[in-house]
Amino acid sequence: MAKKVQDALKDLVSLCKRRGFIFPGSEIYDGLANTWDYGPYGIELKRNIKNLWWKKFVSSRPDVLGLDSSILLNPKVWVASGHVGNFSDPLVDCKACRERFRADQLLEEKLGDGAAAGKNFEEIDAMMKENAIECPSCGKSDWTQPRAFNLMFQTEIGVVEGAGNKVYLRPETAQGIFINFKNIMDNVRPKIPFGVGQIGKSFRNEITPGNFIFRTREFEQMELEFFCEPGTEVEWYNYWKEFCMKWLVEELGITENKLRLREHAKEELSHYSNGTSDVEYEFPFGWGELWGIASRTDFDLKQHQEHSRVKQEYYDAVNNKRYVPFVVEPSLGVDRLLLVLLCDAYDVEQLENDERTVMHFHPSVAPVKAAVLPLVKKGKVKEKAEEIFQKLIKRWNVEYDETQSIGKRYRRQDELGTPFCITVDFDTVGEGESDASKLGFVTVRERDSMKQELVAIENLEAYLAEKIGY
Ligand code: GAP
Repeated sequence: MAKKVQDALKDLVSLCKRRGFIFPGSEIYDGLANTWDYGPYGIELKRNIKNLWWKKFVSSRPDVLGLDSSILLNPKVWVASGHVGNFSDPLVDCKACRERFRADQLLEEKLGDGAAAGKNFEEIDAMMKENAIECPSCGKSDWTQPRAFNLMFQTEIGVVEGAGNKVYLRPETAQGIFINFKNIMDNVRPKIPFGVGQIGKSFRNEITPGNFIFRTREFEQMELEFFCEPGTEVEWYNYWKEFCMKWLVEELGITENKLRLREHAKEELSHYSNGTSDVEYEFPFGWGELWGIASRTDFDLKQHQEHSRVKQEYYDAVNNKRYVPFVVEPSLGVDRLLLVLLCDAYDVEQLENDERTVMHFHPSVAPVKAAVLPLVKKGKVKEKAEEIFQKLIKRWNVEYDETQSIGKRYRRQDELGTPFCITVDFDTVGEGESDASKLGFVTVRERDSMKQELVAIENLEAYLAEKIGY
């Protein structure tokens, strides 16, 4: 079973490379472990994910504003947020093979989710021994004591190296939103409840990156900080949990029974949170976190108020009261969602006399929306196919392909997850002994059912727009 699971991920990684979705990083220099580059189809998929999130969570909502804050922030931000003091994992070394691991992860793999939550290093050390946790690399059970390893990457700013110039690469985009709360309040003046959304790169020096793009040291996040009146946070927390789940299933087409919401137990909650849930997905390697939804109380704004001595208050003019808002935060990794979409779409189907690999992407996320395939590569057929392609490419990422047999062209598009293949033939242009009733019609093949239907060229764009959703 374990081998089968590993193979499923291996096959997906190999398809991603072969079809130009995701390449191993720095490959011509022997690579750099756990770094990945998005190829031509991967970047289309990624852009579609970000555009759909932005539209759903920011631009189509009158109660949410957008932001793009810096990756490099004043280091005081990370002192106030608690990242300098607490953003660390319990690191243990195997004394036999010297490999390093996260003790909490080793314990959770053996004892279940949350097993190490809220435990101090002494307790973790004792649990490692009591449960004879084995090294995943060499199988021995001889560990160093756990020690704190801070996950923030450090660098220097400016030309002078040394004290006073240290900065961190942000480990989350959220703090950029909190430190702009006052700017937004003073200059844009939204009324509570309102949210601020942001998409951007984050960096964490993870001890155990892996499982393809599941956990990497450089990744993108799509985060929303939703500010509300204290006392209303439970209502908003429940609202966002439902909203996020619905979006994944109804608009991105992710298989519902491969998703679950896992509410954190009390011991698992961060000290500032009064409720946190993870949306989890059943990856080939098991259930894993996709999206963290947390009710963060007024912790972050209060911390920044205390450390910066700048008030982080909201003035409610109707009721003439001032307060520091509470925050509900749905925080999602772009790459994590991309991996979910890849895993969910990947399929190897047995056909009557054949096998096909197909990516069942929802049309809204598919990197290529349609492929225009002329059945002959000359004359009126080619001209008409090119004309259709030129029209569609103004609106979507579509491909034109006149090479190889039609069967091979279909298979290639199936592997890219292209939902519609449009064939142009003699009937379309009325050449040769063609069927006059099909003049001006193309054949549209739907990827999943492989069913074909005739669509009038004049209706083609509207036909596709309805299925794609934009
Ligand atoms: N501001 C809250 C925050 O950052 P988090 O649970 O640490 O919360 C949120 O991260 C999301 O970011 C995760 O649910 C995951 O989708 C993504 N994420 C976190 N660490 C990641 C990593 N090392 N690689 C890829 N994605 C990651």
